[in-house]
Amino acid sequence: ELSPIDKAKFAAAKRAVDFVEDGMRVGLGTGSTAAWMVRCLGEMVREDGLKIKGVPTSVRTAELARQVGIEVISLDEAKWLDLTIDGADEFDADLNLIKGGGGALLQEKIVATASDQMIVIADTAKEVATLGAFPLPVEVIPFGWQTTRALIDEALINLDVMGREVTLRMNGEAPFVTDEGNHILDLHLKRIGNPRQLSLVVNQIPGVVENGLFIDICDVVVVGHGDGKVEVRD
Ligand code: A5P
Repeated sequence: ELSPIDKAKFAAAKRAVDFVEDGMRVGLGTGSTAAWMVRCLGEMVREDGLKIKGVPTSVRTAELARQVGIEVISLDEAKWLDLTIDGADEFDADLNLIKGGGGALLQEKIVATASDQMIVIADTAKEVATLGAFPLPVEVIPFGWQTTRALIDEALINLDVMGREVTLRMNGEAPFVTDEGNHILDLHLKRIGNPRQLSLVVNQIPGVVENGLFIDICDVVVVGHGDGKVEVRD
């Protein structure tokens, strides 16, 4: 028996895979909700003979996809994708997102941007009026990361945010390392008044590779409820 939260994630995943058709190249997101979607797709491949090629957004997702029987190819082999299905940490009414809680935001953003359509699957707790309660992940190059952080601190002074604390994500005693060998700074902003401006300003700072704001990238959000009901927002 699944917990209400897992029921919600599973219901959203199950609904989202309806969008997948034979012959599609599909971007496979990362995180606990996306993992449900990968398992659903695997079942369709094994039991219904669904023919797809999957482009994973992390090492973790690549392993799971192979395990469940999905043919995995690289983004460069795929060149362009029909659809990406991924989770999110927050979404708002404009379907703008914060992603990267699992640390895979860089590959996730590249893959989603290379797709005709991005579908987000989420439980109701991810819906917000204003983005920013969830700390914004920013992927930075390890070289000089403290200087990069200082530049972010300085840039935040002039931006429409409520909090300004920036922390280095850790993995035990050591800095967390992404699939691309970088670190993550988490920006505790509480409220992001202008996500578009924040994203542009942060990405201009040397040492910053990418941030977890997905603006105008997501087309559909499938919201799962604890009782197994789903809503589709587009
Ligand atoms: C991974 O880097 C993230 O962008 C995930 O998509 C996000 O953290 C959602 O994860 P859950 O589905 O586990 O909440």
